[in-house]
Parts: sequence; C-alpha cells; structure tokens
Amino acid sequence: MTAVLLLNLALLLNFCYPVGAQGGALVRIQPERAAVAYGGSIVFNCSASCKDLTKIGLETKEMMESKGNGTTWAAFQLVNVSEWDSTPKCYAHCNETTTPQSATLTVYRAPELIVLDPLPEMEVGKEYNLTCRVTSVAPRRNLAVTFLKGETILYQKTFREHSAREPGDVVVTHSITAQQSKNGEEFSCQAALDLRPEGQLFEKASRNQSLMAVVFSVDPHLNTLHDILEISTEMDVECEVAGVFPAKEARFDLTFAGERLNVSVNVWNDTATAQAQASSSSVGKHELNCTVSLGPIIRTATKTVAVYSLPDPILHVDPQAVLVNETVTFTCNSSGTGSPGIKMQIRDSKGTFASAINSSLQVLRTAQEEDDGGEFTCKVELMVDGHPVPVVKETSAKLTVFYGPRMNDTSCPSSLDWSEGNEETFFCSAWGNPMPTIECRKQTVLYKLGTPQRITRDQDGLYRCNASNELGSDVRYVTIRVEFTQPNTLLIGLLCLGAVAIACVAGVAYRMYYNAHKIRKYVLKQKQQAAGHPMEQKSLNGNTQTETDDC
Ligand SMILES: *[C@@H]1O[C@H](CO)[C@@H](O)[C@H](O)[C@H]1NC(C)=O
Ligand SMILES: *[C@@H]1O[C@H](CO)[C@@H](O)[C@H](O)[C@H]1NC(C)=O
Ligand SMILES: *[C@@H]1O[C@H](CO)[C@@H](O)[C@H](O)[C@H]1NC(C)=O
Ligand SMILES: *[C@@H]1O[C@H](CO)[C@@H](O)[C@H](O)[C@H]1NC(C)=O
Ligand SMILES: *[C@@H]1O[C@H](CO)[C@@H](O)[C@H](O)[C@H]1NC(C)=O
Repeated sequence: MTAVLLLNLALLLNFCYPVGAQGGALVRIQPERAAVAYGGSIVFNCSASCKDLTKIGLETKEMMESKGNGTTWAAFQLVNVSEWDSTPKCYAHCNETTTPQSATLTVYRAPELIVLDPLPEMEVGKEYNLTCRVTSVAPRRNLAVTFLKGETILYQKTFREHSAREPGDVVVTHSITAQQSKNGEEFSCQAALDLRPEGQLFEKASRNQSLMAVVFSVDPHLNTLHDILEISTEMDVECEVAGVFPAKEARFDLTFAGERLNVSVNVWNDTATAQAQASSSSVGKHELNCTVSLGPIIRTATKTVAVYSLPDPILHVDPQAVLVNETVTFTCNSSGTGSPGIKMQIRDSKGTFASAINSSLQVLRTAQEEDDGGEFTCKVELMVDGHPVPVVKETSAKLTVFYGPRMNDTSCPSSLDWSEGNEETFFCSAWGNPMPTIECRKQTVLYKLGTPQRITRDQDGLYRCNASNELGSDVRYVTIRVEFTQPNTLLIGLLCLGAVAIACVAGVAYRMYYNAHKIRKYVLKQKQQAAGHPMEQKSLNGNTQTETDDC
C-alpha cells in the first residue's frame, strides 16, 4: 500500500519536474525519438543509473526480442511494429525511486501509390482542377503534396495539423486555367513524407499528365443536298466544325432517325468534317443529328429530313397499237403512299390531256395519226411536307397508230421546173403506218425517185404518184416541166413570126379575093399554087404542129 503510494508520488513528481532534476536514479531510453516503418523493427536500449538494479525492462504492446543486456542496461528489439500509436517505455527496479522513460516513436507508412487524375481535355479559358491522390500514408502530418508543372512547383499542401496516426488517403486539388499556350505541358504531383531528423524523407511522384486545352466555340454545321429523302435511298450528309483546336481530336456522332451512321472524318487545319450516308426505310419526318465532342465540349446540330415514298407510276396504254380513230385507254397508277399532296397527269408531246388529284387516273382518247409513235408520259407529283417544290416521277409509254398513206405539197410537190442537162432528184414521199410504198409514173414509165439524174426533155410531163400501204392509198399528180435551149431558137422564132405574118397577109388577101370572086375561087387557088411558094408553105405547116400554143 505504501509502496504504491510512493510510486504514485514519484510519478507525480516526475511529471512536474524535468528528468534528473530531482534526486533518485535515472532511467534512460535510447533513442528518445525514432521512426519505424509499420511492420518494421527497431531496437531500444534501456539503462538505469542505480546500483542494485533488480529489473530493467521495456513496456510496449509490440512484440519484442532481447538484444543483449549489461549490468545497467538491456536492449530490446520491437519486431513487426503493428501499432500506429506506440509509446515504448523503459522502466527499472532498484532501491531508489525510478521514473519510467518513454520514447517518441513515429510509426509510418511511406507513400507508395500516388496518382494524378488524368487531365480532361480542357476548354480554353475555363478552370479545371488537378487532383492528386495519395493512398494509405501515415502519419499524414508529415506529408506534403506538391503539384508540379514540369519541374516548377505550382502548389504545395501540408497536413501539419492532422492528428491521426493511422494511415489514410489524401486527396489534394489545385485549379488551373486552361490556355492554348499550355498545351502539351506536363503536370505531375509529388508526395513527400518527411520524418527527419529521426527518420528519412520519402518521396514519390505521380506519372506525368499532359494538358490538352481545346477550342471549340461554334456549333457544327450540317449539310445535306436536300431536306427530303426518298425512302430506302441514300443521301450524302456532311457535318462540319470550323475553328476547332485540335481539330483531329473532334469526335463525331451522326444519327439519322435514331440510327448511328458510319462516318469518315477529314481534318483540314482547324476544320473537321464528317461524311456519312443517311437512309431510312420509314416515311415521315426524321431527325438528322450531328454531335461533336472535343474534350469537355459537346455541340450539336440537328436538321429535319422528310422521308417520302413515291415509286415510279405505272402507265398502261391499251391497246398499244391501234387503227386511227379507234379508242385507246390510258391508265396510270402510282402505288406510293396515299399522301394528300399527290397529283397525276398524262401528257402527250403537245401537253397535258388528263390530270387528277389522285394516285390513279384513267382516260380514253381517240387515236390520231399524229399520235403514232408518240410518247405518252404519266407524271406524278408529291408535295412533301415542308418542301417548296413537289417531287416528280414519270413513266412513258408509246402508242402505235395505223393509218393510210398521206401526201401533201411538202412531201410531194405538185410541180417541178427543171432545166435540161442539169442533175435533179425527184422527191416524192408519203407518210403512213405501215410505211407506204410510192411509185411515180408518166403513163407506164416509172421514174426513179430520190436518185439524182441528168434531165432530158423527154422527162417533161405529168406524173401520177401513188402511195399505198395495207390501209389504203393516196394519189398525187406532179407536173415536171423541162426547159430546154437550142442554138437556132432565135432563127426559128423569127421564121415562125415571118411565116405567121405571111400566112396572115395571104389569108386576108385570099378572103378579100374569095369574097370578091366567089365563083372563081377554086381556079384562083390552083393558080396560086402553080405560081410557086412551096418553101413558105412547108415551113408554115411544119411550125404549126409544134408551136400550136404560141399561135
Ligand atoms: C546500451 O546503453 C549502455 C549505456 O549507455 C551502453 O553501455 C550499451 O552498450 C548499450 N547497449 C547497446 C546494445 O547499444
Ligand atoms: C506482423 O503483424 C501483422 C499484424 O499483427 C501480422 O499479420 C503479420 O503476420 C506479422 N508478421 C510477422 C512477420 O510476424
Ligand atoms: C515529368 O515531366 C518532367 C518535365 O517534363 C520531367 O522532369 C519528369 O521527370 C517527368 N516525370 C515522370 C514521372 O515522367
Ligand atoms: C460501317 O463501315 C464499316 C467499314 O467501312 C463497315 O464494315 C460496316 O458494315 C459499316 N456499317 C454500317 C452500319 O454501314
Ligand atoms: C405536209 O405535212 C407535213 C406533216 O404532216 C407538215 O409538216 C407540212 O407542213 C405539210 N405541208 C403543207 C404544205 O401542208
């Protein structure tokens, strides 16, 4: 009872006075301050100054082993230090009062894992946090975390006021402003556990992270050739972003009607362009969407594309070959969607002859000659929502009309004036279906049509041209006049005139004579002949035959 009280008193005194300041034996622990790694080992030497020492020892919760002893000392090794809050204490028993002495032991765990969070791609001008994580380090009050840019210190944080001895994780952040000029700079963080002077300085650095500052200030631009698209057809789509940095980092995501499109991206300076093909198998308004992401920035462009269905119309001409003036039925159908905006027309070469606000149309028509071989077109027009001009589809069909031969002044001129000796071609043609055959004859002589021929005067005359096919025939008369010249034309003309004049004079004279001498007529005539103008008489007679028209 007394001993305990005395010890208590001694302890009390020991607390109040510096060691060794008062009387009694001195107990020492060496080292007085030490640092040991968690799980490591350390030797403490306890010694006492009293002579009749009965016991000297080390008080600790750790496992320990003896490391030798002397008359005044004993050494102990703490093995596998596993208490974070460990205070080894030396005590001694002798006939003097002793005061146990404790050492300040720092149990540490050096930083092993230090990570600088990957830097996001940053938008120029904005602030971003650098985050450094140090895992399981103790004691944290000895820790300093430093952010570095290259080898330059940006910021340092210490934890001196941290009281916990157990290991813990540390997260430190530091904000920086993204600048394009900082691109490519290396950032890292470093953890330093400084246990000096009793221990060492442990340092560990993170991996470097390079900064990527991006510029992306304008929305992407979506280009399509049209704002409408025929069902199940493909349309080129282009999405472009300009003024971006770094353009090659731009990521495109194009969708049409909710479906992702396959894109190919081209980069040119600060512009990136994605190209794709859009198509859809469902009619309606679909959204085309282009989302571009560059680092932290996401920008989107959208456009509405109306998908329509308008198959080619089907045009039936019944019958396809017909006799002139018979009836032909034209039927046109479009199997497209029964959109309200559909319009149908059937046209011939001259224009529209039937139309309907419908997707089917039937019309009757009397076949005309001019319809033969003609192309008939059925045209459907569809107004697609929001598109200013209609979509048009056309189909054509041909009609054959059979009719008899036809000729007119253009195909077969009614008169031709040629000169003898020239080369001329006699053209006379007819039209009809089937193609007529044509023959031109002067009496029974057939003229070779369409080939150049040297003109002779005997080609002069009236020709009968007959065109015929299975459906009938047509006739046209062609007068060919051949003008011919002779070296003695003038002479003949003069002779003719002279003969005519003589004949007239003779006639008049004869008349007068006849009237006056009616009874002697016969006799006189005979006398005249005997008097002798046989040449004149002959020439007169000869000319009378050819120059009938002139006289
Ligand atoms: C312990 O300390 C005493 C006295 O200071 C000294 O003589 C002795 O050699 C030491 N023992 C060891 C193992 O260091
Ligand atoms: C050290 O101590 C820890 C925890 O008490 C234990 O798990 C480990 O096995 C010990 N190591 C040795 C070598 O004794
Ligand atoms: C990080 O970069 C700096 C400067 O660029 C260099 O000095 C340092 O060694 C690098 N650190 C690592 C862990 O690569
Ligand atoms: C996208 O493109 C790749 C390669 O060009 C091709 O193999 C793939 O089938 C395409 N995917 C689609 C949905 O078109
Ligand atoms: C003759 O018929 C053709 C074809 O029908 C026409 O082009 C031409 O003008 C007609 N000529 C005359 C003189 O009527």
